Amino acid sequence: MKIIFLLFGFIFHPNNAQFDKSGVQQTLDAHNEFRSSIAKGTYVTKGLLHAPATNIMKMKWNVTIATAAQNHANKCPKGHDGPLEGVSGECMWSGHINASKGVNHLGAVAAKAWSSEYTKKGWETDVMSDEFFNSGVGHAIIMTWYSQVNVGCGVKLCQKEGDYQLAIVVCKYWGEGQGNGKIMYESGPTCSACPPNTTCDQATGLCDSKIPDIPEPIYKYDELVNSKPAYTVVMGFFLMIIVQLI
Ligand SMILES: *[C@@H]1O[C@H](CO)[C@@H](O)[C@H](O)[C@H]1NC(C)=O
Ligand SMILES: *[C@@H]1O[C@H](CO)[C@@H](O)[C@H](O)[C@H]1NC(C)=O
Ligand SMILES: *[C@@H]1O[C@H](CO)[C@@H](O)[C@H](O)[C@H]1NC(C)=O
Repeated sequence: MKIIFLLFGFIFHPNNAQFDKSGVQQTLDAHNEFRSSIAKGTYVTKGLLHAPATNIMKMKWNVTIATAAQNHANKCPKGHDGPLEGVSGECMWSGHINASKGVNHLGAVAAKAWSSEYTKKGWETDVMSDEFFNSGVGHAIIMTWYSQVNVGCGVKLCQKEGDYQLAIVVCKYWGEGQGNGKIMYESGPTCSACPPNTTCDQATGLCDSKIPDIPEPIYKYDELVNSKPAYTVVMGFFLMIIVQLI
C-alpha cells in the first residue's frame, strides 16, 4: 500500500502597502515645506512673489484622518469619498508606478503635484471663492489654508498594467475657519500672528501647536476595514491523500 501526500501550499501575498513611518514623514514634510515657503514669502508663481504669512500653522499627522484616508484608498476609488465629519478637504492622486520601488515616496510626489497647481494656473488672490477654487488650483488651496492643521493620508496599489501598477494616494484634511469670502492666510511678517497656544517655529516660519508631528500608531489598525495587518494570505491549501491499494 502506498500513501502519497501531495500539494501543501501557502502563498503569502504582500499587497496591502501603506505608508509606514518613513512614508508619513515624507508626506508630512512635503506639505510643510510648501506651507513654509508661503509663510516665509519665498513662494513664486508665474514670476509673482507672494507676501509672507503671519499665521500659517504647521501641519500634523492625524491618526483618525489617516485611517479614513487609507480606508478610501483601499477601495481603489475612481472618485472622491463622501463627506465625513471632521474632514474639511480631500485630495487624490493616481499614477502608474514601478511597484518595486515601494510606496513611501508617493505621498510627497502627490503633494508636489497638488502644490504645483499654482505655478501652472497662477495664483492671483488669497480670498476664497468657488471661481478661484475651480480654476485648477483646488488641491493647492486645500494645502495652503493657515488653519488646515490636521492631515492624514493613505496609499494603495491597485491594478497592474504591464510593468507598472496603478497607485492611488488619498489625503484628507481638517481645519477650521475656511469658506468663501475668507482669506487663506493673513499677509504680513512671518509668524507675527500665530494663533493662541502656538509658537513660531523659526526654521519653517510656521506656527507650531507643539503636539507631536506624528503620533503613534500612525493608523488605527482596528478601524482599517479592508486591510488585515501586513499580509493577505492567499491560501492555496490542498491536502490530497492518494491511497493506492496494490
Ligand atoms: C484629528 O482630527 C479629528 C477630526 O477629524 C479631530 O476631532 C481630532 O481632534 C484631531 N486630533 C488631534 C490630535 O488634533
Ligand atoms: C522597476 O524598478 C526596479 C528596481 O529599481 C528595476 O530593476 C526595474 O527594471 C524597474 N522596472 C521598470 C519596468 O521600470
Ligand atoms: C490654550 O491652552 C490652555 C492650557 O492648555 C487652555 O486652557 C486654553 O483653552 C487654550 N486656548 C486655546 C484658544 O486653545
